[in-house]
Amino acid sequence: MHKIHVPVENAYDILISRGILKHTGEQIQKLISPETCVIITDDNVDPLYSDIVTASLETSGFTVKKFMFPHGESSKSAETLLKIYSFLCAEEITRSDCLIALGGGVVGDITGFAAATFLRGMPYIQIPTSLLAQVDSSVGGKTAIDLPEGKNLVGAFKQPRLVLCDPDTLQTLPDRFLTDGMGEVIKYGMIADYGLFETLCGYDLEQIKQHFDEIIPICVSIKRDVVAEDELDTGKRMILNFGHTIGHAIEAYYHYETYTHGCAVAAGMCIMTKYFGTPEEYQKLKFCVERYHLPSEVSAPLPDLLALCGHDKKRTGSELRYIICSPPGSAEIRTDSLSAFRKHFERI
Ligand SMILES: NC(=O)c1ccc[n+]([C@@H]2O[C@H](COP(=O)([O-])OP(=O)(O)OC[C@H]3O[C@@H](n4cnc5c(N)ncnc54)[C@H](O)[C@@H]3O)[C@@H](O)[C@H]2O)c1
Ligand SMILES: [Zn+2]
Repeated sequence: MHKIHVPVENAYDILISRGILKHTGEQIQKLISPETCVIITDDNVDPLYSDIVTASLETSGFTVKKFMFPHGESSKSAETLLKIYSFLCAEEITRSDCLIALGGGVVGDITGFAAATFLRGMPYIQIPTSLLAQVDSSVGGKTAIDLPEGKNLVGAFKQPRLVLCDPDTLQTLPDRFLTDGMGEVIKYGMIADYGLFETLCGYDLEQIKQHFDEIIPICVSIKRDVVAEDELDTGKRMILNFGHTIGHAIEAYYHYETYTHGCAVAAGMCIMTKYFGTPEEYQKLKFCVERYHLPSEVSAPLPDLLALCGHDKKRTGSELRYIICSPPGSAEIRTDSLSAFRKHFERI
């Protein structure tokens, strides 16, 4: 078992181990003694994993309730959140009970936000079941819902009491979501760990399935280190945004329909490396992302994407902060005016 401690103000552990789902009750019991645990999950994950988690919790003496909603980003809404609050009221949940987010990033984000706000805050535990949730969204304490006006516009920082990560759950995750999560996994190699990047270049999507229990702890440790240094996202955490400035522009250009987040980030990382790295660095990254069926480029004209970069929420005033990973395995935060940033792309 890998135990990764997150030393933020309300410190907690991330436990990563194949089969840990069966030990949910024992692990929670070591930390807190809620009377009731409320599992919040979606309709894909529920039939696969709710019974295992429920049985373990009941064996440890907890009362278990469950709230399930339809899968997908459209459920990360105020409407679902209100239904969760109503359910918690109907079940007479108190602040000494506990919420359990069982699912991907959508479940994790909305459950975390419910835990941050219901009764002015109650404990919650993350059990991430998608690759993206295991390496990214369950670490760092950012919680949110979407508004019709945009993604993640309402949220809170709320650290979980514990994260239980079971790489075996990825066996049921469809390949397209594995590919999507690989965009972030490659990002970790690029920003902080050349050895990880090399390892990823040596596998493909089929082969890496045998290595998730080694790869996930490496990614989680990297995110932990960054988050511990910058819990409230005012400085170093920015390096996690490598590939995201252009990635977000790609998502927006195609109205969030053509490219998933991980695919857009992969193309964003490649475009940045093409213009800010060496030709060898670019070729190697392109080779790596393509091994996982991720795109290294998109058909949208670069000037159109650059125009959309001005709308990135990481922008401060008229300046844009962006990340360069040259050489791979290291990240540099740069600040430029929008026009200077766009000028870099006239180089080739
Ligand atoms: N809080 C953060 O720091 C942070 C960071 C990155 C992304 N996010 C958020 O995460 C969300 C995306 O997360 P996601 O990609 O996990 O999306 P998701 O939760 O929609 O999961 C993807 C799909 O996989 C299914 N699924 C999950 N686990 C499964 C399993 N083990 N077997 C079979 N199917 C399974 C889900 O039902 C869903 O259909 C976005 O809303 C994004 O904003 C948050
Ligand atoms: Zn991302």
